Amino acid sequence: MTIDILTLFPEMFEGPFSLSILKRAQAKGHVTINLHNIRDWATTKHKNVDDYPFGGGAGMVMMVEPVVRCIEELKSKTSYDDIIYLSPDGELLTQPLANRLSGNQNLLILCGHYKGIDERIRTHFITREISIGDYVLSGGELAAMVLTDAIVRLIPGVLNDETSALSDSYQDNLLSPPVYTRPYDFRGLLVPDVLLSGNDKEIAKWKYEQSLERTRQRRPGLCNET
Ligand code: ADE
Repeated sequence: MTIDILTLFPEMFEGPFSLSILKRAQAKGHVTINLHNIRDWATTKHKNVDDYPFGGGAGMVMMVEPVVRCIEELKSKTSYDDIIYLSPDGELLTQPLANRLSGNQNLLILCGHYKGIDERIRTHFITREISIGDYVLSGGELAAMVLTDAIVRLIPGVLNDETSALSDSYQDNLLSPPVYTRPYDFRGLLVPDVLLSGNDKEIAKWKYEQSLERTRQRRPGLCNET
């Protein structure tokens, strides 16, 4: 998979993309992530990327020209399954949506900033808008990192143990069961004995019941939310 990310702040991605699973996924060739600085496509002498909104109002608006020039150049080389704009107005990111997107070959992700992007970009170039939650971030970069992580870890082969993505919270509309590691006895707090029983059937049953109970208590509407 190839993910092209358009941003005014490529430096923001350096840490998250160069560690852990995202680092390994790139090193193993499961995904190529390209960061593009929108400012490189600015046409004015001062490389402006934002301007005042027509009709007034607070905040600046990202200009149509640098963004569209960048998108057009990338589109001339790559055929994208989706051109995604991250915005609080978008469709809510859920595990089923991450699953669907992880099956794509090429994605382009546009990060907005300031008060938003010129509406003509949204209507003529964006094919999908995604929100990572009902709150407003200062820009789309953090949302793009969340979206990229959620997608990339689902690409087959990225996780060492294929089943570990399958047993994630939300993958089957249930939260994950509790997990424990050594020591068995921490200041008198014991690990449930069933987990040491060696009885795979009993362990699976216990995990399922714990998942059900946790989902009932914490997210009773989860089954209806996807
Ligand atoms: N940009 C600003 N807020 C956002 C959100 N909640 N989701 C996605 N992109 C955003």
